[in-house]
Amino acid sequence: MDPPLLLLSFLCLCITISNAADILHNPDFEIPPTNTSANSTSQFLLLTKSNTIPGWLFNGTVWYVSSGPNISLPGNGHAVQLGENGNINQTFRATDDYRQYILTFTLTARDDDCFNNATAVNVSVPERSRVFSLLGHFGKNQWETYAFYLGDWGSKRDSIKLEIIRVTTNTASNVTCWPIVDNFLITRHVMPRWYDGNILANGGFEIGPAFINNSSDGIILNEEPEIFNSLLQDWSIIGTIKYIDSNHYKVPEGRAAIELVSGSPSGIQIDLTLTVGSTYILEFMMGDANDSCVGDFIVYAQIGTTIENFTVQSNGTGSAQKQSMTFEAEFTRLTPISITSSNETRSSDNVLCGPVIDNIVFRPFASYAVKLKLYIEVSSLLLTLLILL
Ligand SMILES: *[C@@H]1O[C@H](CO)[C@@H](O)[C@H](O)[C@H]1NC(C)=O
Ligand SMILES: *[C@@H]1O[C@H](CO)[C@@H](O)[C@H](O)[C@H]1NC(C)=O
Ligand SMILES: *[C@@H]1O[C@H](CO)[C@@H](O)[C@H](O)[C@H]1NC(C)=O
Ligand SMILES: *[C@@H]1O[C@H](CO)[C@@H](O)[C@H](O)[C@H]1NC(C)=O
Ligand SMILES: *[C@@H]1O[C@H](CO)[C@@H](O)[C@H](O)[C@H]1NC(C)=O
Ligand SMILES: *[C@@H]1O[C@H](CO)[C@@H](O)[C@H](O)[C@H]1NC(C)=O
Ligand SMILES: *[C@@H]1O[C@H](CO)[C@@H](O)[C@H](O)[C@H]1NC(C)=O
Ligand SMILES: *[C@@H]1O[C@H](CO)[C@@H](O)[C@H](O)[C@H]1NC(C)=O
Ligand SMILES: *[C@@H]1O[C@H](CO)[C@@H](O)[C@H](O)[C@H]1NC(C)=O
Ligand SMILES: *[C@@H]1O[C@H](CO)[C@@H](O)[C@H](O)[C@H]1NC(C)=O
Ligand SMILES: *[C@@H]1O[C@H](CO)[C@@H](O)[C@H](O)[C@H]1NC(C)=O
Ligand SMILES: *[C@@H]1O[C@H](CO)[C@@H](O)[C@H](O)[C@H]1NC(C)=O
Repeated sequence: MDPPLLLLSFLCLCITISNAADILHNPDFEIPPTNTSANSTSQFLLLTKSNTIPGWLFNGTVWYVSSGPNISLPGNGHAVQLGENGNINQTFRATDDYRQYILTFTLTARDDDCFNNATAVNVSVPERSRVFSLLGHFGKNQWETYAFYLGDWGSKRDSIKLEIIRVTTNTASNVTCWPIVDNFLITRHVMPRWYDGNILANGGFEIGPAFINNSSDGIILNEEPEIFNSLLQDWSIIGTIKYIDSNHYKVPEGRAAIELVSGSPSGIQIDLTLTVGSTYILEFMMGDANDSCVGDFIVYAQIGTTIENFTVQSNGTGSAQKQSMTFEAEFTRLTPISITSSNETRSSDNVLCGPVIDNIVFRPFASYAVKLKLYIEVSSLLLTLLILL
């Protein structure tokens, strides 16, 4: 790593963290629509002429629904269901500094069988959109939690319109499978920061989408090859992975980790420029999430064209162990570093599960590490001088 980069990382530490939740008004639809006489156990069609949903604009067929025998929602409460041409939108304000905006939300339907694109929404902000469809088998609940990278809006624009539109599919879809959306939570990522002894900024996956209250199922992260659009700061996402929190899962370190759930393959990747002739060491924690995921986990760690596999027999009770591999860089070029799993495992209740990966450390071996330490000391000195001047 270059000294300027290190210096930058020290400067970043000076920027205060603000991870304000609830950037949106009425994100969970618990403030009921106006001009309705219905009570909390019923559901009703909203009319644009007579009803408004506090915080939101809507058009088309939109129902205000409550959790009950046919609708399961995290923490119960209320949500909206989008029917024919149904759409909702809300405008929020971005602050004028560097911020990556991330949305977390839940999607559900009235029936367990609404998979294969029968239940889908298009979530968009200016210049970015993504279709999310109910996948099934990624958690114990009927609803699923997804995340969407909204962009780095700092200084570009102060007013951003978030829109959710029902996607009409060719699969015959009736009211049973109309998408029900809830719990829109927008948070901001802080600038990447590096710590002594690790070239990776977010090796512990602590910087990712926010977990919603009352959800014990983690967040489904879809494939994202572009590192700058990533929900997991600094990582691109291969296949589908699950972002899990320490409140509901066994996480090796910190408050979050990733579970490689989809097989075929699933994992994370970063591309780094390595120094020719230097030896590097890759270390990571590999375990299970204490989610009754029993089986033989095989994880492939790849640096450039060198692949090593790591096998762990999981009894599903939340154990973890440290794994490591060394690599000697023969060329100075952008080198992909990835950790993936190719096997699909299911728990006894048919939920997709797999190996948990956390605390990835990538650093130069031995002598180079001494140089790195020197760089850090010089950088701190420079920073001190800067402050004094
Ligand atoms: C609420 O709605 C349910 C079902 O529509 C009805 O049975 C109940 O009487 C209503 N309660 C009140 C207080 O209006
Ligand atoms: C309530 O609905 C009626 C028609 O159903 C409409 O005339 C009236 O403006 C609405 N009031 C509010 C506060 O939205
Ligand atoms: C938001 O919804 C309102 C009502 O349907 C509509 O007039 C407006 O054009 C929508 N905004 C966007 C950006 O779609
Ligand atoms: C609402 O939807 C109707 C029918 O799809 C359309 O004609 C109308 O222009 C829309 N209104 C707004 C404000 O977008
Ligand atoms: C639940 O769904 C069944 C079958 O679609 C329907 O008969 C029943 O009325 C629904 N119950 C409620 C409370 O919506
Ligand atoms: C769902 O839709 C996506 C994108 O439109 C498509 O690639 C995929 O094959 C569809 N899946 C099914 C099961 O129809
Ligand atoms: C999703 O919505 C955005 C914005 O309205 C649109 O540009 C995009 O084409 C839509 N994508 C799909 C697959 O419908
Ligand atoms: C609606 O779709 C669901 C799921 O595909 C199906 O079980 C149900 O029978 C359908 N209902 C009607 C009235 O077509
Ligand atoms: C989630 O829970 C925290 C702590 O209990 C609370 O402060 C926060 O307001 C809750 N957020 C939502 C969106 O309900
Ligand atoms: C794992 O690596 C060993 C030794 O390099 C190799 O023999 C074995 O085939 C690999 N297993 C898998 C599943 O790739
Ligand atoms: C599961 O594995 C852990 C560590 O390998 C061990 O401590 C624990 O006793 C095992 N539990 C069962 C039920 O086998
Ligand atoms: C895991 O996947 C590999 C390659 O697809 C396959 O050879 C192996 O049998 C699988 N192992 C298990 C335990 O399913």
